[in-house]
Formats: sequence, structure tokens, C-alpha cells
Amino acid sequence: MIVPQFLTKIDEKQLHNGAVSWSSPSNIALVKYWGKKAFQMPRNQSISFTLEVCRTTTKLSFNKLDKPSKGFSFEVLLDGKRKTNFEPKIEQFFKRIENYLPFLNDFHFKIETSNSFPHSSGIASSASGMSALALCLMSIEKQLNPEEPDTFFYKKASFLARLGSGSACRSIDGDLVVWGEHPDIEGSSDLFGVKYPYKIHDHFKNYQDTILLVDKGEKQVSSTLGHNLMNDHLYAQTRFEQAKANLSKIKTILETGNLEDFIALVESEALTLHGMMMTSRPYFILMKPNTLEIINKIWAFRKQTGLPICFTLDAGANVHVLYPERDAASIYEFIKSELVAYCQNGHYICDRVGFGAKQL
Ligand code: PMV
Repeated sequence: MIVPQFLTKIDEKQLHNGAVSWSSPSNIALVKYWGKKAFQMPRNQSISFTLEVCRTTTKLSFNKLDKPSKGFSFEVLLDGKRKTNFEPKIEQFFKRIENYLPFLNDFHFKIETSNSFPHSSGIASSASGMSALALCLMSIEKQLNPEEPDTFFYKKASFLARLGSGSACRSIDGDLVVWGEHPDIEGSSDLFGVKYPYKIHDHFKNYQDTILLVDKGEKQVSSTLGHNLMNDHLYAQTRFEQAKANLSKIKTILETGNLEDFIALVESEALTLHGMMMTSRPYFILMKPNTLEIINKIWAFRKQTGLPICFTLDAGANVHVLYPERDAASIYEFIKSELVAYCQNGHYICDRVGFGAKQL
């Protein structure tokens, strides 16, 4: 599949070498993307909070080759050390995007990357990493085609990031990003993420996300394998319809600031994602005993205090604790005194909603 709107004509003769850098954040989905079609197209719509603290910083240096390479010429360094095991993923990414960036074969690329969160934290760096790399590549395209409008730049960056890792297309902008064409969200598309275009109640401004690192190991189920489990899943169709309906519902919630409804929707989405994994073939349980301990503690604390604390989960055991800024003091005290004990080595990350990637 070729998407003509992102095929740009460029004259690369004038460019020889240089370097560009971007810092790009991770994101946490409220309505989860789970299931994909060919060309990294989502089988359901999703919406996420862009994060601020969990970020990848990538410097992309480029040097013109004497003659275009047959494959791609690049090296990847994490924290200054060569990472050959990252290279197949980048190679696959370059293959997927080469039609859209015809200069990819003409340069040797040095990709120097580092994460603000520890590599072995169980936090996936694919969203922040792929979006940072997509933005660096777009900055090279921009040098070749300075007339390119900013709107196109960010749209294409999100489009390219999606081809690296689906949810990465939601990491370019902030504070809320929708991915997947939805009748209630104007401008939404399966091809790229769009900034949520409607009114957001003050309750959701600077929302807090304390990430409890329950299991810092490698992912038990890779994203690709996980998404593929939805291909012949008995409940797939119902799940996709539920996600669509939840996106309509969250639009109302975001406008009215109804935290009770927000909590019910977000927690249900997290548990449904895990429910899908528990009911697929093969089946998986990605939560750990401490994940459940934390969830039960959150529920008990909420019942006791009436404070609007809730959780969400990615495809793993770590827990994202979400709460409004106005209640941050008492909720953070609770997290420190009651929840941190369930984290591996007591590790957690204090994050919050952010506004997207930054050029350095
Ligand atoms: O971007 P991927 O292919 O790694 O998929 C991410 C899927 C979830 O994190 C589980 C949900 C989401 O919408 O981010």
C-alpha cells in the first residue's frame, strides 16, 4: 500500500552531511489499541495521554555515501554503546518507509539514542524511540525541502512513526492524541495520530501518572505477537466495537470532567486489554501478583477516601496510577506509603501529561 500524500519530491544533491536531534515522549493509552491489519493499520481507534518525563532522545548524524547503498547503511548506539540487536527492527522500519524517504539509501546514518527511563524498566521505548527517529528523518527531509509546511511535517512524522511501532504515532503531539478514524473525532485517521481537537475540562490538565515498576524484565509477549492474537480471537469484533463506543464516551467525559465515568472507562479498558490476552489462543497472563495487590489497594483507598485515583496497564505487569493534579499531594503520599512496596526494588517513575516531542 502506498499513500500518495506522503510521497514527497526532493532534490538531495545539495545535502552532504549533518546531524539532527529530537526528544520524544512515551504515551499511555486510555482507550487501548490492540489488534492491527496490514501496513500497521489499527483494527480499533485509541486515545492516549502524551507523557512528559519518559522520553527518548535521538541524535541522527548523516553522511552522504559515494554511491547509493544496496541495503541501508546505519549503526545504532544506546547510551554510547553499539547495539547490533536493535538493528533488525530499524532495518525493517527503513524498509517500510523507504518509498516515503527516497534519500534513505544515499546516506550512512549514525543513530545515537538514550532513554530518560532505565532500559530494563519494563517500559517499552518503542513509542518514544520510533517517534524520535521519525522526527529526525523528517528534519532531514525538511532540510531538503524547506518549504514544507509544519502541519505536513508533523502529520508525516506521525505517519512514519506508526510504521515503526503503531502507538508511536501518538507520541509526536500532546496532550491527548487520537489514532484511528472515528466519526466523532474530526480529522481522525488510521494513518496518523491527531491532537485531540475538542474542549478538555480542567480536571484533565496536567493529569499525573505515577508508573509503578512491578516487573522490569523483557516483555513476555512481543507487540507483534500480541496484536496478531486478535486476528482470530473469538471476541475480537465485540472488542473493536467497544473501543469505538468508548472513544465516543470519553469525548463527553473529557468535556464534562466527570472523573467517576473517567475512572470506570479507563480501568475497564485496561482490564479488557488483559482479558483479551487471557482469552486468546495461545493465552497469556501478563499481570503479576503485585499488579493485583496494587489494584486492590487502589480500589480500597478510593472507596475509603473518595479520591479520584485509578489505574491503567500496558501489555505488561507495570501499573500506571492516574490522578488529577489537585489531589496529587494526598494520593502521592498513599502511593509512597502503600504501593511502592510492591515495585521491583522500590522503583517507580513520577510522570504527567506532556505536550509532545521537542527538537533539540
Ligand atoms: O505500538 P505497539 O504495537 O507496541 O502496541 C501498543 C499496544 C498497547 O500499548 C498495549 C496499547 C496502546 O494503545 O498503546
